[in-house]
Amino acid sequence: MLNHPLYLSAYPLKGYTIANLTFWLLLLTLFTSLLSSCATGSNPNYTAQERGLVSNKAMVVSAHPEASSVGVEILNKGGNAYDAAIATQFALAVVYPAAGNIGGGGFIVYRQSNGETGSLDYREIAPGAATATMYQDIAGNVIDGLSTGGHLAAGVPGSVDGMVQLHAKLGSLPWAELIQPSVDLATNGVVLTEKEANGLNNSRDNFLRYNKHVPYLVQDNAWQAGDTLRHPDLARTLTRIRDKGRDGFYAGETADLIVREMQRGNGIITHQDLQSYKAQWRQPVTGKYKDYSVISMAPPSSGGVALLQLLQMVEPYKLNQYGWQSAKSVQLMTEAERRVYADRATYLGDPDFVEVPVQELLDPLYLKERMASVNLARATPSAAVKAGEMPVYESEQTTHFSIVDQFGNAASVTTTLNGSYGSKVMVEGAGFLLNNEMDDFSAKPGVPNMFGLVGGKANAIAPGKRMLSAMTPTILEKEGKLYMVIGTPGGSTIITSVFQAILNVTVHDMTMQQAVAAPRFHHQWLPDEIQHEPEALSLDVKAQLISKGYKLRERGHYGRVDAILVLPGGRLEGGADPRGDDKAAGY
Ligand code: GLY
Repeated sequence: MLNHPLYLSAYPLKGYTIANLTFWLLLLTLFTSLLSSCATGSNPNYTAQERGLVSNKAMVVSAHPEASSVGVEILNKGGNAYDAAIATQFALAVVYPAAGNIGGGGFIVYRQSNGETGSLDYREIAPGAATATMYQDIAGNVIDGLSTGGHLAAGVPGSVDGMVQLHAKLGSLPWAELIQPSVDLATNGVVLTEKEANGLNNSRDNFLRYNKHVPYLVQDNAWQAGDTLRHPDLARTLTRIRDKGRDGFYAGETADLIVREMQRGNGIITHQDLQSYKAQWRQPVTGKYKDYSVISMAPPSSGGVALLQLLQMVEPYKLNQYGWQSAKSVQLMTEAERRVYADRATYLGDPDFVEVPVQELLDPLYLKERMASVNLARATPSAAVKAGEMPVYESEQTTHFSIVDQFGNAASVTTTLNGSYGSKVMVEGAGFLLNNEMDDFSAKPGVPNMFGLVGGKANAIAPGKRMLSAMTPTILEKEGKLYMVIGTPGGSTIITSVFQAILNVTVHDMTMQQAVAAPRFHHQWLPDEIQHEPEALSLDVKAQLISKGYKLRERGHYGRVDAILVLPGGRLEGGADPRGDDKAAGY
């Protein structure tokens, strides 16, 4: 084991020397000025709510009130968590087009009431004509924007096949009953919230840029909160899916419309790609953290492996004594994150194409070794390689929903178009957006993607391959019983947001609602900086971190953690992230 290449890590964790005196003088100046305006510690109770919605039997927490209602309606009709998950996935495609989708993909981690666990990977795949260098110019440079916007950015969608397979294996109500609420929503229209109206207005130029037609998400005047958005083409597509299942999307009229759209914009998805797409049942990654069993998504998501690494790396430390968001806690979590994201960049990829050393990455000895190089007196520099700058990016869209049903089954589902409104390409006549998930591959090893994440050869593009994900739908058990269902959007920040929300409950005794609302910070190895929400770190903590060599970058709010906690006695508490329109509903 000790000979495994992981132990011969290329990352220069030791031997750091301070090279730039000017830099340190600047830091000293900042440090002094921060000390003079020193505030007390940040307040974890930054949320107004002590507890989220508490229900007796069943709950759905999602990014949109209408989608949560649809899920609960299905549970009320006697459907199980998987029926509700299918109905919620399709409802989000209508009411939350920024990330809800039928043109994208996702992962579900589930736990049945009898304790059986499993996961379904309905991640998109690279089309058959994709190549490792398809986003590079003749000189081998990555062409800016080619993997993030437009027809070539789209992977073959997996959401519909995922839902069909989920229904076949675990569903209980008739398929058509699960899709009908979305057909109704699309036909009758949805009242826009302020956030949605802003999202559509902000993407207006890109919708016009990447489509040959004017998609119905664009209107002459700016969208306003309270406007009703109707989706007649999408209603017809959903009707085909309702009536024909898989063939309502991957064959017939919908497939023809997708392929025609590809031809209009030099995309490469073919009928053959659509016909051959198949979601995969996979063993989830599981492991222990304190008294909890953690069940999360295996590769091609890096989420489960990384989350378990993080939890096990910080477990030996007394974070509760150090205090929530104290300098010492932030430092330890940051150093763990730095090392975990370095592993991610090197070793993680689609397990159907590359060997992913999951066991080795989760080996307790290895994780102990990784933390052995942490020096609390000084930040560890991430690497000798020049860090890529995190591009300014409108938002890290993906969406997560958590469900517990009246029978005790649980579903943790994260689904995505990747960026906000995906590739911005709307399939003309079919009324849905295509993903820009191809950007989650490494367009060129070592070059950061739109989340600033660097990938290696393991995540290079190949036909039929799944791009590496950070999505982390997760379930926790305590003493053999269901304890928590959790996940979030947020691109590269997904893993650390789930990590922090779990620590908030299991170490810092927060309620579920407080845990999802509490301000967050994030480190992803490269760029070598702690990104933090404005309220996340007190001035005192910032000063201490800067004095130890950490670079800090304040950024906007990110992630929308939606979670359910099983309270003593069995009632359920929903944590609905106040950063969005997220809503817990239940009974
Ligand atoms: N597209 C975001 C992720 O899969 O991590």
